[in-house]
Amino acid sequence: MNKKLFHQLLETHSDNTDYEKYLNTTQLLTAQKKVADLLPDELQFQIVHQSEELWMKLLAYTLLQIDSYLVKENTNRVLTLFRRAHKIQRLMIDQLSMLETMSPKEYFPIRALLGNGSGQESPGFKILLQMPAPLWQTFKKHYLEKADLTIEQIYDTKYNHCDAYLIAEQLIEFDSNFQEFLYSHLRLVERTIGPRATSLKGRSTDALSISASRNFFPELWNIRTQMTEQWTRRRGSSPYQ
Ligand code: HEM
Repeated sequence: MNKKLFHQLLETHSDNTDYEKYLNTTQLLTAQKKVADLLPDELQFQIVHQSEELWMKLLAYTLLQIDSYLVKENTNRVLTLFRRAHKIQRLMIDQLSMLETMSPKEYFPIRALLGNGSGQESPGFKILLQMPAPLWQTFKKHYLEKADLTIEQIYDTKYNHCDAYLIAEQLIEFDSNFQEFLYSHLRLVERTIGPRATSLKGRSTDALSISASRNFFPELWNIRTQMTEQWTRRRGSSPYQ
């Protein structure tokens, strides 16, 4: 294969066509290092991170749309948009596994170029961390308080799959997917730099397992615990004793 020719082709960008103009392909395809300067696994490393940032941007935008349909109490639109949000989260989780194809040996020269960079500085991640709390408030105001309902009622004493229950289940799926992303990331980190390694900021990566067990919507997890405790109290002895 003529390597030089293909390197040239990879570096040649134009905005001659409507496709290129609309999608801003020149800017997109020059957002990575020049091919000649790349370390072997670096293009993959950059593209996975950049794609994750784009998905996080779309996820944050989708949550904003969900919030406005919660205010309008348009449950159907909320549900279809949550389907999109969850698909983005699944893609984000799957994409992390691309980096499992990078050996520790290939990563270290890349790590040397990252300075004191930290995933905690990810713009998309920082926005996403701020969104669930106000989303929960909107849900509570429009689907619980207005209908005079509580989480306990929609899950237990007035359980009938009402709109509030359907949306609560979307919220817990969002929470669960978010945790799964963080756990998958933790596994990737351990696979690449080892368990209990030190981050480029000099912190122990143990903190990653703490943040991976973060719940955005504790009330939705607590109701399950409460119901189990009640069930355990009522259960009495085993029918097989
Ligand atoms: C082999 C690849 C990767 C390694 C070795 C790695 C390593 C790390 C380390 C050591 C931390 C802790 C940083 C600190 O304490 O300052 C961290 C945090 C983080 N990384 Fe990565 N990372 C990798 C890939 C990715 C990818 C592809 C993403 C996608 C967006 C990502 C997003 C994040 C985020 C959001 C955090 C903050 C997590 C939190 O605070 O709970 N990382 N990463």
